[in-house]
Amino acid sequence: MGKAWSGRFQQATDPRVERFTESISFDARLAGVDIRGSKAHAQMLAAVGLIADEEAALIAKHLDEIGAEIERGEFEFRTELEDIHMHIESALIERIGDVGRKLHTGRSRNDQVSTDLKLYVRDAIDSVDSLLADVQAAFLSRHEVDADTVLPGYTHLQRAMPVMATHYWLAYCEKFQRDRERLADCRKRVNVSPLGAAALAGTSLPIDRQLTAELLGFSSVAGNSLDISSDRDFLAEYVFCMSLIAGHLSTWAEEWIIWFSTEFGFIRLPDAYTTGSSIMPQKRNPDVLELIRGKTARVMGAVTQILILIKGLPMAYNRDLQEDKLALFDAHDTIVACLELAPSIVAGAELVTDVINARLDDGFLDATALMEYLIKKGVPMRTGHETVGRLVALAESRNCRLAELDLSDFREACDLVESDVFGVLGTLNAVSALCSYGSGGRAAVAEQVAKWRARLGLAT
Ligand code: ARG
Repeated sequence: MGKAWSGRFQQATDPRVERFTESISFDARLAGVDIRGSKAHAQMLAAVGLIADEEAALIAKHLDEIGAEIERGEFEFRTELEDIHMHIESALIERIGDVGRKLHTGRSRNDQVSTDLKLYVRDAIDSVDSLLADVQAAFLSRHEVDADTVLPGYTHLQRAMPVMATHYWLAYCEKFQRDRERLADCRKRVNVSPLGAAALAGTSLPIDRQLTAELLGFSSVAGNSLDISSDRDFLAEYVFCMSLIAGHLSTWAEEWIIWFSTEFGFIRLPDAYTTGSSIMPQKRNPDVLELIRGKTARVMGAVTQILILIKGLPMAYNRDLQEDKLALFDAHDTIVACLELAPSIVAGAELVTDVINARLDDGFLDATALMEYLIKKGVPMRTGHETVGRLVALAESRNCRLAELDLSDFREACDLVESDVFGVLGTLNAVSALCSYGSGGRAAVAEQVAKWRARLGLAT
């Protein structure tokens, strides 16, 4: 069968041009959503009387059959048919002739591909959202094992203040929650129907765009055909959402890669998620985490790809837009692969509490607690900061901890200090003292655990 658009051409297309312009090698995965869109379109055509009800039913039946064949891998794709839309339409025409030739009434591939992409991205958002919820649940469940563990908190990767281990886990829950909220917000703009914008200007045929929108679950119909047929903002937004997820995953991966080093020794990773070296027999490498970190580059690159793709494009549809799918699918697949692995790694890891506890009083994690003790005694904050700075220097010169200084040392630095100072020193005392809302102290963390359990629908 010839090309659907061959009418005004006298020369056959150069086969190299066919290979250059095809998108079937990457857009075949839109088959399911393309068929959903076409069935809704056919049903609408019948509702407004542009085709007969029996014709719509015949179209729907054959579209379903074609869809099933594609799913079973029995459908033959041919480069000369360009893209998934042409493949499905020409298969339909092959099977039902003139009735099939009516499907594209009042529609263009331009609003069709945009509809397909929106349906695809809407499903993608829903599946990524549920994968994110699984990762959150895995982090939250660590509380059952790590509830009593205290970890050093870092800034600049230098020991700063102690926090309950769960505070780390819930920090990731928060980050992924924002990702989920961003996706939900992006979904609102995805969920506006382009179908019926046709090539760019709409149509003189009496189509019912409200009906196709309803049939496809869109919440509204786009008000400007020029805009919506050229709009790929939603792809830029979706891929940006993916890139922030990748950023969050890479922070987690990086942190655990550091903790997994001999220098830290804070964490054990399950064998199933580490790999060996081909030359050094002792090695156990955190390759999966490294790849999660590394794949961030692809996802972040995809945002740039889409932004550059749409820069300076005149309205409305331009063939450049065909390239959008490469960035979209790669970013989506990469994130899904990372999110599918993450919960098992999170759940399977073990904090090495012996190592963590043995070094917990290193690095003056209680210095801020001592400063706040002075503030509570009436010392101005800046003065307290200086005083504790001097005490830290003194302890360092004696190669000891703050808690190992004498009361006389403290009183020499500040005469408001009393023997109760020893009740605030030491990392465990310092973490116990943290009580502000959202802090890393035990009670504040417990409050957040309860909130997260309710939010994620997990048993208390
Ligand atoms: N394969 C094309 C794409 O993905 C479909 C739309 C083509 N439209 C056109 N007028 N050539 O963008």
